[in-house]
Amino acid sequence: MSEAGTCQQLLEEYAPQTGLSSKLEPFGCGLASTATLRVKLLKNPFLMAPMAGVSDAAYRMMARAGGAALAYSEMVSVAGLHFGGAKTWELVVPKDPEPDIAVQLFGSVPEQFSEATALVSERLGTKLALIDINMACPVPKVVRKGEGSALLDDPARAAAIVKACVAKAAVPVTVKIRSARRTGDHEVAPDFARTMEQAGVAAVAVHGRTASQLYRGEADWGVVSRVAAAVDIPVIGSGDVRTPADAARMLQKTGATAVMVARGSYGNPWIFGNAKRKLAGQDAVEPTLTQRLSAFACHVRLLEATGAHLARARSLSGWYLRGLPHATVWRERAMHCSSADEYLQMADALLAYARAKEA
Ligand SMILES: Cc1cc2nc3c(=O)[nH]c(=O)nc-3n(C[C@H](O)[C@H](O)[C@H](O)COP(=O)(O)O)c2cc1C
Repeated sequence: MSEAGTCQQLLEEYAPQTGLSSKLEPFGCGLASTATLRVKLLKNPFLMAPMAGVSDAAYRMMARAGGAALAYSEMVSVAGLHFGGAKTWELVVPKDPEPDIAVQLFGSVPEQFSEATALVSERLGTKLALIDINMACPVPKVVRKGEGSALLDDPARAAAIVKACVAKAAVPVTVKIRSARRTGDHEVAPDFARTMEQAGVAAVAVHGRTASQLYRGEADWGVVSRVAAAVDIPVIGSGDVRTPADAARMLQKTGATAVMVARGSYGNPWIFGNAKRKLAGQDAVEPTLTQRLSAFACHVRLLEATGAHLARARSLSGWYLRGLPHATVWRERAMHCSSADEYLQMADALLAYARAKEA
């Protein structure tokens, strides 16, 4: 059985028990125009954020099964794509059930972005929904090379990178930024976003923290509002979207066109569908314990089918089992699992317990 066949079959077999969908809807942007992108975002404004070490194919499939309009790849190095490493391409190429994905690139050299955009466009074809450029990553080994959030201090280079991508892309090119490099600095995001708009981006995603905050402290949604007021293109807000109500509130409060869900999706692929319900004024439908455990097992099966490192299953167990009675005991057991089968046996034992409790 092919790996792709396995993923679709796994979704069809296991998603129905989880309250998630087995059919992943295409975002289907197709054209590079801002107008098309805006229409798509308005239809479903809840996106699965890029997360290095997290948003692999299995994670993206679960998020889309939960109702995310689109899911981003982990950030991918344009230099890595240049050297053609299999590990780098693994981050970019979607698995068969994925109708399309957003690919996020990072680097600092416009020519490398140009080449990477051409290569990714050719390899993914209609499965490429958009290309996003990372101008937000705060990790020192990235920033030291002038990549990620370092570009916030170099708008001319950032604009050259955007133009290099736009020239080669048939899909929308977007950027993801932060409010500024350092807390206490002048907030660069609104002016910077305007410069990116002039350079040709179709949308800008804004994480309402400074790079020096990393992922700590409270996100400032005010900066999302100020960027939305500064540009005419769609703005995608990010930061502290932990619940479906947060997602709907960010849209209503900031004037953003769409919202990215990052850590709020840990062990919670239902957050996307529930955000849509909240926005429509309906109540969220929280998963039962059985559905949550079935989703954990489905996610582990997808990890295995996609050849992902099983270390990822350890994080998943922490997330999906949160709040469970005796969660510490189960998490301890998860620490000692060394194969997908052992995780699945644990999930079976938990499911038996949950079914007895819910009977
Ligand atoms: C583990 C982790 C990895 C991340 N990796 C990326 C990344 O590769 N690219 C990116 O633009 N943002 C990345 N982010 C930032 C998220 O996309 C998001 O903007 C940020 O977490 C704020 O949202 P939250 O407070 O709702 O988690 C990452 C965040 C986390 C927690």
